[in-house]
Amino acid sequence: MTRNQMGYERNDRHMKNWFLLFALTLGVALAPYVSWAADPANGRQGYDRYCVSCHGADGRGLVANAPDFSRGEGLMSPDLAIAQTLRSGKGGMPSFLGILSNTELLDVVAYLRTLQR
Ligand code: HEC
Repeated sequence: MTRNQMGYERNDRHMKNWFLLFALTLGVALAPYVSWAADPANGRQGYDRYCVSCHGADGRGLVANAPDFSRGEGLMSPDLAIAQTLRSGKGGMPSFLGILSNTELLDVVAYLRTLQR
């Protein structure tokens, strides 16, 4: 290997490090603006529209058998499992399949968790 080639090689490695640092900085800088997490504020809109009539604004439940979200009832499962229950419906609760998208369901679940007192 010639000296020159080694020089290039070292250079390449530096470029790679700079690129990684750049990507990392960009990611950290954008993280607050680009979010893939569920959005409880959006979920609240879905809740007020489709859930509040049975579950109440405070989540304590207005109809028979409805869990009390303020006490964490019905919220012990992971978000995806709760979203699945909402897709299929349960007991006196209708299915929300085709009414709320998966993303919207996860947003609503995130909002449900904020009702816990
Ligand atoms: C028509 C009334 C009604 C509507 C509308 C309704 N629910 Fe329910 N919900 C119930 C009842 C009744 C239960 C108890 C079901 C059971 O355990 O038999 C329940 C249970 C639940 C549970 C607990 C599920 C479990 O596995 O125990 C969650 C979470 C929930 N509802 C969320 C929601 C959300 C979010 C919405 C709106 C998208 C919604 N509900 C709309 C009546 C309703």
